[in-house]
Amino acid sequence: MDLVVGLVFLAIFALFSPPLGAKGLPANGLSYDYYHKTCPQVEKIVRDSMNAFSSVDPNTTAAILRLVFHDCQVGGCDGSVLLNIKYPQHQAEMDSPKNFGIRRREVIDEIKSKIEAACPQLVSCADILVLAARDAVAIAGGPTINVPLGRRDTTVPHSRQEADVGLPRNEVNLTKATQVFSQEVGITLEETAAILGAHTLGVTHCDGLMERLYQNGTVLTPRSEAEFVKYLKKVCPEGGQGRFTTTFNLDPTPRTFDNKYYVNGLNGHGLIALDAEMARDPRSVNIFKKFARPGCFFQSVFLSFCENYYVRCADGR
Ligand code: HEM
Ligand SMILES: *[C@@H]1O[C@H](CO)[C@@H](O)[C@H](O)[C@H]1NC(C)=O
Ligand SMILES: *[C@@H]1O[C@H](CO)[C@@H](O)[C@H](O)[C@H]1NC(C)=O
Ligand SMILES: *[C@@H]1O[C@H](CO)[C@@H](O)[C@H](O)[C@H]1NC(C)=O
Repeated sequence: MDLVVGLVFLAIFALFSPPLGAKGLPANGLSYDYYHKTCPQVEKIVRDSMNAFSSVDPNTTAAILRLVFHDCQVGGCDGSVLLNIKYPQHQAEMDSPKNFGIRRREVIDEIKSKIEAACPQLVSCADILVLAARDAVAIAGGPTINVPLGRRDTTVPHSRQEADVGLPRNEVNLTKATQVFSQEVGITLEETAAILGAHTLGVTHCDGLMERLYQNGTVLTPRSEAEFVKYLKKVCPEGGQGRFTTTFNLDPTPRTFDNKYYVNGLNGHGLIALDAEMARDPRSVNIFKKFARPGCFFQSVFLSFCENYYVRCADGR
């Protein structure tokens, strides 16, 4: 745990499975057949539920993918982001402004109820969330990710401060992201670009763009993007009413897990600061070009990264 403190993104997220240890078990106590004997129907219940929720509200896939990221980034994948407990003395995880826009948490509650009916008190919410997120990716047209299970839930949320530190700043720049991802977590720039491809789904509110647009951030927008930024500023004026209500799709196909995020970025239309910067910076532009080409290259890198990358975020143990 102590390693996590002060680092941004150390855990990355749960879909990134640990490597196999002795006897094919992941090194952190999780396993691919964790519920095979005790609750064999768990994967089917989650998948059927996610299909149903997504057909009623197609924004569910994006919401759940972001949700697992925010759960795992803060104290490991322990279901803490689902807790609403309020303390008189201090603010809790969900009070962090970094969790603004988190939505559809009730989906996990409802899936949990179905699973409790089938196999009481066996399956953690943290595992349900991980399964729901991998189904979200598949339902949206992305790869099917094999995930190990066996996480345990926390009963107390993490503090607001832990969330403030653990979740990325909206204005994080490439230099900082590279430092954290490559130097501290040991993943490559290509892998960093691939996980940011999660922004192929969903939306941002004006709130996610304010520093970028009004230069509290450190990345200045080049002239080639001036028109686009002018448009964004018009829709999201500083101090305007729409900060927490007006949304932009993160790419032109926000419900499809495709490579349009990269095409969009290369067209100078990246939304969040890092989306825009990585698409133009000489360090990463060629990776974006590779991912933008027709075919499944992006999806295959995303998949193999998720399945092979070692994470310490196994659970709340
Ligand atoms: C590393 C730097 C990252 C930054 C700065 C960042 C920032 C943001 C911001 C500001 C939003 C908009 C939230 C809103 O206004 O509702 C967003 C949405 C989203 N993010 Fe990220 N994010 C990052 C990485 C990731 C990663 C690694 C994932 C992987 C799961 C991810 C998945 C998503 C998804 C799916 C959405 C859409 C959510 C929805 O439509 O409800 N993000 N992100
Ligand atoms: C889904 O998100 C879009 C914004 O991209 C919004 O206009 C729409 O109302 C949302 N649908 C539901 C069912 O919440
Ligand atoms: C810029 O930073 C100042 C001081 O930290 C803050 O009050 C202001 O809201 C920020 N502006 C935006 C657009 O976030
Ligand atoms: C990137 O962000 C860090 C703070 O997170 C800042 O110290 C640094 O100056 C920024 N670098 C560039 C090139 O803007």
